[in-house]
Amino acid sequence: MVLVLLCSATGSPGVTTSALALALGWPRSVLLVDCDRDPAQAVQAGWLHAAPLASRGLVDLAQAHRELQPVAPLLWSRTVDLLGPGHDGPDGTARDRGPSRRFLPGFTHPGSAVVFEPVWAELAEALAALSGSGVDVVVDAGRIGRTGLPRPLLAAADAVLVVVRSTLRSLAAARLHLDGLRDAIVDAGAGAQPGFLVVGPGMPYGNAEISHQLGLAVVADIGWRPEQAAVLSDGLPAPRRFEQRGLMRSARAAASALASAAGPARAPRPGAAAGDTTGSRDERA
Ligand SMILES: Nc1ncnc2c1ncn2[C@@H]1O[C@H](COP(=O)(O)OP(=O)(O)O)[C@@H](O)[C@H]1O
Ligand SMILES: [Mg+2]
Repeated sequence: MVLVLLCSATGSPGVTTSALALALGWPRSVLLVDCDRDPAQAVQAGWLHAAPLASRGLVDLAQAHRELQPVAPLLWSRTVDLLGPGHDGPDGTARDRGPSRRFLPGFTHPGSAVVFEPVWAELAEALAALSGSGVDVVVDAGRIGRTGLPRPLLAAADAVLVVVRSTLRSLAAARLHLDGLRDAIVDAGAGAQPGFLVVGPGMPYGNAEISHQLGLAVVADIGWRPEQAAVLSDGLPAPRRFEQRGLMRSARAAASALASAAGPARAPRPGAAAGDTTGSRDERA
């Protein structure tokens, strides 16, 4: 199993959109988990078109934990299909589903994350236990924040990706958090190497320059495609051949590189997944 954690320093560089794009382009069965401690319910409201998600997600798992039920056996039943009814093929027929792509919804209240503190360890264990069933995990951890990312999630992660845009503003903010993040990973006893996921490489800084200047590898990138991103982030109707277009093409390439890294020792080399070629400003199909 591979557990990839995505986070950000500040702003909205595209953590949720990238995590969703990776999950949709993942080469194997995958679970996308919304662990953002500042809840936004962005995947529900956007991609899932406000589908009702009662009894699903972290809040429900927290309730089970309070009732002393083990989380791991419940986890899968608290997820939803990322390719639900609203995501049938263009002609209305069901798609050839391929690997399962599930989603575990996140917090439903601004204060929920605080009461979740005692549950992180069990959630992380339950996510790790999915390995037995061959399911990889993509975690949207939102912003690193003042208190840092939940330690058990860091401990379980094979890769910790700081999502940035290639602007000076985004990179300067990320730089402020890098030492703290490295320390937190070591402190959690995790073997994961942090790396960057660049949204919109080459606008203006290329991946090689980002890696060089900040001393952290760019291990993946996703092209800058505002209209295509809005399909994921805001639930806009997908254009024809959406999956073949630039955003999902780059997401699939990034997902394949990350999925083939079974652990830190096999994390993608800097530049291996991330050419500087996907970030041109034009909207190539
Ligand atoms: N690859 C991309 N190309 C263009 N726009 C993007 C891309 N990824 C995300 N966005 C846009 O950026 C905005 C913030 O994205 P979101 O994923 O919600 O950020 P975060 O989770 O970091 O707060 C959204 O409007 C989304 O459509
Ligand atoms: Mg988000």
